[in-house]
Amino acid sequence: MSEKSPLVIELETLQQQAQTELAALKSESELQSWKTRYLGRSATVMQIFKRLPEAAPEQRAAIGQFANQVKNTLEAGFNQMMETVRQAQLQQSLKSEQLDVTLPGRVPARGRLHIQTQVLREVCHIFNEMGFQVFRTDEVESDEYNFELLNIPAHHPSRDMWDTFYTTKEGVILRTHTSPGQVRSMRAFNPDPIRVVLPGMCYRYEQMDASHEIQFNQIEVLVVGKDITFANMKGTLVEFAKRMYGKDVRTRIRPGYFPFTEPSAEMDVECFVCGSKGCPVCKGSGWLEILGCGMVHPIVLQNGGYDPEIYSGFAAGMGVERISMLRYHVDDIRRFWENDIRFLEQF
Ligand code: PHE
Repeated sequence: MSEKSPLVIELETLQQQAQTELAALKSESELQSWKTRYLGRSATVMQIFKRLPEAAPEQRAAIGQFANQVKNTLEAGFNQMMETVRQAQLQQSLKSEQLDVTLPGRVPARGRLHIQTQVLREVCHIFNEMGFQVFRTDEVESDEYNFELLNIPAHHPSRDMWDTFYTTKEGVILRTHTSPGQVRSMRAFNPDPIRVVLPGMCYRYEQMDASHEIQFNQIEVLVVGKDITFANMKGTLVEFAKRMYGKDVRTRIRPGYFPFTEPSAEMDVECFVCGSKGCPVCKGSGWLEILGCGMVHPIVLQNGGYDPEIYSGFAAGMGVERISMLRYHVDDIRRFWENDIRFLEQF
């Protein structure tokens, strides 16, 4: 070949520069941008064919060949470097992702039902087996159902038994007990006989301490029919206590007062913490109060649409947190709703 064409010199310089740069590259992305720069559509090697007219006619074939050669060399260099970089990355990730198959497995955290949901279901289950069905009513109640229809008119002194959360809407409150479900279920079932349990959350405007919460669960029991007697009530509640606390549990029924039952009573079970010897839990008495109950007041029957001359019934209401506190020796009712996972995980 006579004198070197400027195009060949340009290609030679280019090849050298490209190869020097290539050798220093460390990542796939650097390599890709190198490739666009030197082998992309607008790269010099690619454009050289269009520029062949710049060269003397007898040199053009050789220049074309040389350009192809440069292109192939750069491509081969690129592929090789890519392989090197990929290998290095693989080594790196193998090192950082070492797997020790002898390590003990990690047990995944499993959710569970809240302790009070469990106890609520247990109590409902016992009553289900005794022929009761579950009936749910709302936690946001009217003053009418929570008090008035239960024979507790406005300003009646017995309202002091239920410190109430009022809403900004006149006459709308948070239920202070599950008893409003009495009239609600009577109006729903009328004129059929009723055998229901009403479980759910209640709210009271209390000063909180170890035995007072502003929210807690109750379960209400209601039976309405012909010839329902105090003896039926006693038999039902004693049977419940046996199924709940063991068949040898001793119970007693004392007189009590509620405006919506007449006569009213309270039921105690013997203290199973101390075996009724007397301890701090039963305050030395040997007995634990578990529920309030009584024969449904004639006025309440009437409000539910049942003629008190023909129908009678009994009702009972119990606190569900108290059941758990006694059974699991929980010393503070506030633990149930403060959502401390260390407490909840124990059940
Ligand atoms: N609702 C009463 C309370 O919260 C308990 C009760 C229910 C008493 C049914 C008698 C009959 O204190």
